[in-house]
Amino acid sequence: MTSPEASAVHLIGEAHAYLKAAALRAVAVLGVADHLGDGPRPVEELARETGTDADCLGRMLRLLAAGGIFRREPGGFSLTPLGQGLRTDSRYSARWGIVMSTMDTHWQSAFELGTSLRTGKPSFEALYGKPFFDHVAEDEAARAEFHGGMGSFSGAARRLALDEYDFPGGGTVVDVGGGRGGFLSDVLKGNPGLDGVLFDQAHVLPGAVPDGVGEGRWTEVAGDFFDEVPRGDVYLLSYVLHDWDDDACVRILGNCREAMVPGGRIAVFDAVVGAGDEPEDAKLLDLVMMMLVSGRERTAEEFERLFEKAGLRVERVVGSEGPLSVVEGVRAER
Ligand SMILES: C[S@@+](CC[C@H](N)C(=O)[O-])C[C@H]1O[C@@H](n2cnc3c(N)ncnc32)[C@H](O)[C@@H]1O
Repeated sequence: MTSPEASAVHLIGEAHAYLKAAALRAVAVLGVADHLGDGPRPVEELARETGTDADCLGRMLRLLAAGGIFRREPGGFSLTPLGQGLRTDSRYSARWGIVMSTMDTHWQSAFELGTSLRTGKPSFEALYGKPFFDHVAEDEAARAEFHGGMGSFSGAARRLALDEYDFPGGGTVVDVGGGRGGFLSDVLKGNPGLDGVLFDQAHVLPGAVPDGVGEGRWTEVAGDFFDEVPRGDVYLLSYVLHDWDDDACVRILGNCREAMVPGGRIAVFDAVVGAGDEPEDAKLLDLVMMMLVSGRERTAEEFERLFEKAGLRVERVVGSEGPLSVVEGVRAER
C-alpha cells in the first residue's frame, strides 16, 4: 500500500510535470538541437551559439537528458535518437509542433482550466473574449505560430495513419479545414491518380502548389465549412472534428455528405479515445479541446452516433501506430 508520505511526494512530483513542457518549449524556440548535429558539444559553446546562459542551459539540458532527449557525455551534450526529432531539418520535425502546443494561448488557457470545469465553456474565451479561431485569424503572431506549427504537430501522426489507409486509384480528394496543405500534399504524392482540393479559410491557404505535385492536380478553395464544401470523391477531415461540439460536427459532416459524389467517402483523421483508463495522448488532447474550443476527443461509439446524425454510416475504424485513427464513413441509406 502507498503510504500517505509517498503518495503526497508522488502527487507533488506529478504537478511539476509542466516544467518538462516548459523546458522542451525553451529549447525548441531556441533551436538548441540544430547546434548538435555532429556529436557532443561543450555547454559553453552551445550557450554562445544560442545566446543563452551556460549554467542555466546546462541545468535545463540535464533535465531533458533525464527524459532521454539529450545525453551527457564527457565532451558535453549530444542528441539521443529521440532528440533528433527536435532538429528543424528532421523529416518530421517536432520543433514547431512543440512551440505551437505550448504557445501562450494554450499555456494561459491551461492555467485557467478551472474556469472550464466550472462553466463547461473554453477557458480561452473567458481570457481572450472571443473564440479561438477568431483570435488566430486576427492576431498575426498567433496565426503564424498556430498554422505554422500545425503541420509539424500533425505531420508525423498523419504519416503513420496514412501508412494504414488506402485511397481509391482516381478522383478528387477534398481536404476540409486542410490548413497549409501538408497533409493533402502527402496524399497526392503517394497517390498519383488523385487530384486535390485544399479547403480552408482564405487567410490560411498557402496560395502555392507544393513541390512534387503537378499544377493541374492542386486547387485551393476558400470558404466556411459551415456553409458548404467543394464537390469531391473523398473528404479528409484531419484534426478538424475534434475542434467542435456535436451539433457543429453534424453540420460539417452534413455539408460533406451533400457535396459528395455518389459512392464517395469521408475519412476523419482524429484520435479515437479507448474505453479503458490507460494513459493516452488523446486524453490530454481532449483537455486542449476543452480549454480552447468547444470540442472534444471521441470514442468509436461517439463517432458512430455523430455520423448517424449527419446521415452517414461508419464503415470502419483504422488504427495506427501513432495517436491518430481513421474513421471512414459513407452515405447511409435514409
Ligand atoms: C486544428 S486545424 C487542422 C489543420 C489540418 N487539417 C491539420 O491536420 O494540420 C483546424 C483547421 O480548421 C480550419 N477552420 C476553422 N474554422 C473553419 C471554417 N469555419 N471553415 C473552414 N475551415 C475552418 C482552421 O483554419 C484550421 O486550418
